[in-house]
Amino acid sequence: LNDFYDLFNYLVIVQMDATNFNLVSIAKTDIAGKNINLLPSCHSTNDFCLDLIKKNNAIDGQITITFNQTNGRGQRGNKWLSEKGENLTFSLTLWVDYVPLHAIFFLNMAVSLAIIDFLNMLVVEKDMPKFKIKWPNDIYYLDKKVGGVLIENVIKKENFWSVIGIGININQTNFKYLSATSLANIYGKTFDFEIILTELIQKIDCQLKNLKKGSLDLIKSAYLRNLYRFQQTSFFRKREAILEGKIIEVTEDGLLGIEINNSIHYFDIKEIVFVN
Ligand code: BTN
Repeated sequence: LNDFYDLFNYLVIVQMDATNFNLVSIAKTDIAGKNINLLPSCHSTNDFCLDLIKKNNAIDGQITITFNQTNGRGQRGNKWLSEKGENLTFSLTLWVDYVPLHAIFFLNMAVSLAIIDFLNMLVVEKDMPKFKIKWPNDIYYLDKKVGGVLIENVIKKENFWSVIGIGININQTNFKYLSATSLANIYGKTFDFEIILTELIQKIDCQLKNLKKGSLDLIKSAYLRNLYRFQQTSFFRKREAILEGKIIEVTEDGLLGIEINNSIHYFDIKEIVFVN
C-alpha cells in the first residue's frame, strides 16, 4: 500500500477491499475521472472495464488504473508491454449518448488530441519537435511511439459504453523495440504520475466537452493539424505491395484517405501500415 501512497499521494482512498482501491481524484473535471479505481495489478484495464460493463457495474467517467498491467492489449491484436511501476496504463469508461454511431471515430480523435495537447504542453523549448498523432491514434515523438490508445465500444441501441484504454510510456528507459520511447528518454528526467495524470485527465475532460458541445469540425481540424506525416509523401504497405502517397484526409468513420497517383484511396486500420 505504501508504494501506492508514493505514486498517488494526492488522492483520497474512499473504499477498499481485498483487491480494489477506490479513490477520488482531486482533478476538477465534469466527465472524466470523477471516480478512480486503482488496481494493485491487472491483466488489462480494458478487459477489467469491459467485464464491469458486462456485469452492469460500469460507472460513467470512471478511470481504472494499474501500475502493474500483465497482459496489456494494443491495436491489431498486438500486446502492450509496460514495465511495472514505470508508465501510465489506464482505461476510462464512458457512457456515450452524445456521439451518433456513424461518427464514433470523433471519440478517437478527441482522446488522441487530448493526449497530444497534454504532451505538447510539456514541450517547453520553442524549437523542440511536437508530439504527433499517428493515424488512427498512436502517439508519436519524431519517429518513435510514446503511447497508444485502444478504444473498445459496447453498443446499446443508439448509444454506447466506451472503454478508452490509454498507455503512455513515462519513466521506462529500456524498450524491447527500437521504435518505442518514453517521456524520460525524450526529456532525460523522470516524471511524477500524480501531476501527469491530473493534467491529462483535465485535457481529456476538455476534449470530451468539445465533443458533447458538437464541435466536430474543430476536433477534426485539430486532429489533422497534429497528424503524423499529414500531407507529406510517405510509404505504406498493403499486403505485399508498397504504396507511395500523401495522407490528405481522415473520414468521420476513421478511414485514412491517401492520395496516390492523383486519386484518393481510403483504407481502414486492418488494410494498411506505415513503412518507416
Ligand atoms: C496501441 O497502441 O496499440 C494501443 C495500446 C493501448 C494500451 C492501453 S494500456 C491500458 C489499456 N489496457 C490495455 O490492455 N490496453 C490499453
